[in-house]
Amino acid sequence: MVLWDRQGYIPAMDIQHSAAQPSTTPAAIRREDYCPPAWAVPEITLDFRLDPAETHVRAALSVTRSSAHGEPLRLDGAGQTPVSVKVDGVTINDWRMEGEQLVVPLSGDTHVVETEVVIAPDRNTQLMGLYASGGNLCTQCEAEGFRRITFFPDRPDVLSVYRVRMTADAQRFPVLLANGDPVAQGANDDGTQWAEWHDPFPKPSYLFALVAGDLAVNRATFTTMSGREVELGIWVRAADLAKTDHALHALKLSMAWDERVYGREYDLDVFNIVAVDDFNFGAMENKGLNIFNSRYILADPDTATDYDYDAIAAVVAHEYFHNWSGNRITCRDWFQLSLKEGFTVYRDQCFSADQGSAAVKRIEEVRGLRASQFPEDSGPLAHPVRPESYIEISNFYTATIYNKGAELIRMMATILGPVKFRAATDLYFDRFDGTAATCEDFVACMEEAGGVDLRQFRLWYSQAGTPRVSAGLSHEPGGGRAVLRLAQHVPPTPGQPVKQPMVLPLKVRLFGAETGRPLTDERLILLDQVAETITFEAITERPVLSINRGFSAPVVIESDRTAEDLAFLSAHDDDPFARYEAMQQLMLDTLVAGTINGTMNSEAVIDAVARTLEAEGLEPAFLAEAVLLPSENFIGDQLAMVDPDAIHAARESLREQLGRALAPAWRRLYAEMAQGAYVYSPEAKGRRRLRNVALGYIAASGAEDAAALALAQFDDADNMTDRQAALTTLVGTDAPEREVALERFHARYADNALVLDKWFQTQALSSRDDTGAVVARLAEHPHFTLANPNRARSLIGAFGMNQRAFNAADGSGYRFLADQLIALDRLNPQTAAKLLPPLGRWRRFDAERAKLMRAELARIVATPGLSKDLFEQASKSLD
Ligand code: TRP
Ligand code: ZN
Repeated sequence: MVLWDRQGYIPAMDIQHSAAQPSTTPAAIRREDYCPPAWAVPEITLDFRLDPAETHVRAALSVTRSSAHGEPLRLDGAGQTPVSVKVDGVTINDWRMEGEQLVVPLSGDTHVVETEVVIAPDRNTQLMGLYASGGNLCTQCEAEGFRRITFFPDRPDVLSVYRVRMTADAQRFPVLLANGDPVAQGANDDGTQWAEWHDPFPKPSYLFALVAGDLAVNRATFTTMSGREVELGIWVRAADLAKTDHALHALKLSMAWDERVYGREYDLDVFNIVAVDDFNFGAMENKGLNIFNSRYILADPDTATDYDYDAIAAVVAHEYFHNWSGNRITCRDWFQLSLKEGFTVYRDQCFSADQGSAAVKRIEEVRGLRASQFPEDSGPLAHPVRPESYIEISNFYTATIYNKGAELIRMMATILGPVKFRAATDLYFDRFDGTAATCEDFVACMEEAGGVDLRQFRLWYSQAGTPRVSAGLSHEPGGGRAVLRLAQHVPPTPGQPVKQPMVLPLKVRLFGAETGRPLTDERLILLDQVAETITFEAITERPVLSINRGFSAPVVIESDRTAEDLAFLSAHDDDPFARYEAMQQLMLDTLVAGTINGTMNSEAVIDAVARTLEAEGLEPAFLAEAVLLPSENFIGDQLAMVDPDAIHAARESLREQLGRALAPAWRRLYAEMAQGAYVYSPEAKGRRRLRNVALGYIAASGAEDAAALALAQFDDADNMTDRQAALTTLVGTDAPEREVALERFHARYADNALVLDKWFQTQALSSRDDTGAVVARLAEHPHFTLANPNRARSLIGAFGMNQRAFNAADGSGYRFLADQLIALDRLNPQTAAKLLPPLGRWRRFDAERAKLMRAELARIVATPGLSKDLFEQASKSLD
């Protein structure tokens, strides 16, 4: 067991967990151990006899020796043994199993190796490999699922051309899809039918996919920039067909956007998307055959919120963009995961920003980063964007790899500027097309086409932890100079006790405290020393500092700005993000003081919110973001020791005060933002959002009619955004309307799994005192199941994010989560491991809670038969 040798991480000596680990501690894979593959597999032919209970998979691999070596062929497997092995058409017997690997001795430099295995998709509860969902069969291979289907060198730097033949019962599985283009199909006499697909683009095994099922399709065509027609199809169960138009539209927008912004054209004649209900992640970019969690495809106004619509467009774009950033250029090894994920998230973020308000989009991104990536980066599971080691790669599909990775690309785009950044991505796509590349390859292209030196910038890939920047501005009165003193500090993280200073691109501007006017242009400062001083000449009035505008670097700013300065910026800054940020900082300072002291001076916040609500020319969507208080978790992240009840009390008190002091404004907005019949547009979304924020404040004020108002909105709503917002408002109250709304919601959507997820989630996130008990009861509800990841996340995942309820002083929340994770681990280790991190926050809590949390972590680690996935997360969280 590793004990992090660093200040702040106290070795966990008093907990006896090591004796009860899995019989052998799973081994770590290291980046420095990378070796190129000994054998290449230029071609593979797969033949599936598909049946949920017993699927026969025959694979023929053409293999070639990569260099002069005497190594046998090693093929990864998981849970199977081969029924037969042939080399060049002849059955052999000198193969052997080493662990899960099939080892085949080969004498020549090129051979055809054939294997046959039998697998049982309907018993596959992990949802990795070939599995059954809603009566259909589908695959998930990233990262290491292909080895659960057939024996293969299951690593991303082995690229092969795939030919796939499927045979299945024609009634149960009328639709047979795989990667690439359809080649042929036909019927057999025995009631089965077959189809053959061919993907001409060499790809790694993690991009393999097939689907067999009873599906309906929503079709369209897209004409590419060079005039080729692509046939698009979104496949779902027939009853859901009417809910696929939004996703199909988003797909067409994405295809056009990638041509316009990156010059990237689609390359096959068909592009299919299939939606399935049981899925470990959001979606998967399999070549020509994306497979999606149905929550990121299905939408209509009655069942999907504005948030859902936006997420669908973003995920459709994300997976589509992977066709270039991920598929045409893939990753050499899994340590390079952010090469495709960070870049693709950056691409989908820019796409979404282009569809509506870029400022609001940026605010949402930063809120997400602070809610998930910053806590990860300051906790026991912190890791660099390019990790050095892992036990289970599935645990590294994290906010750090995805979202911090995207921030790295964004910083390079900022440093290069748009023209050079485009030249650099052109160079990257051109140079590495058809290969498995590294993060280093990407940065080298940025350097070469951008004409910049990124040597020190590369530390962003290797050093974990969120940099902290202190900023102090001083001024010589009477038209003198202003001096900005900046200093950076990167906190220690597991395995990295000492850090080098990084390159931090900080956009900065000064404003005059008296006139409210800008005193300088916006400047891009590249802070690359531990400390630096920047001088501004001829500053004619007291300057106020606007820093990290647009969130130009993913850092924490610690400044000496007063409440007055922050209120000033929230009213005068010309960068909408900075304006939002100033208000957030003002609220945060107030709430932290309130948490610590038990009382707070809320005047500055109330005043600033009032002024923002009255300001001219602000779009409703921005207003809604600006006046929302920071979450309880984010307040907790500011404190050395989290006191969940005090945080909750301070935040509720400020909400109530804002609700009361500005009651007329909330009422006015609630009336003014009402709209006619539902439309989905950036403007309409913004108005709904602001109106629902106003409803929240009306309820927070304790107004007597609030519950009735919310229930009326609940009943009259013609869309899910307004209905769910009303439900959420009611679920946080003790009003009798609460039960009424919950019952009506459940009755109305009892047969819609995605909407029922909202019903579970809203209750798990409730701030009421009884939430822990309610969640425990909901876990016994007939509609609850751990077998479906969306449902598990909606209750267990949401509860873990509910800071106050989860951290109940008696430890009941910790015990509940641990019980659920141990049960879930037996079905689906990947999903269980994803839900563990809240238990790893013990260092931030009082000794009593810390002890209770660690006892649960130790209990998890001591569980017989624990997966590698959950073992890695729990043991690292304990250390
Ligand atoms: N590559 C997928 C994406 O980012 C992620 C993904 C889908 C995934 N399914 C998975 C990752 C299963 C791990 C396990 O779009
Ligand atoms: Zn991705």
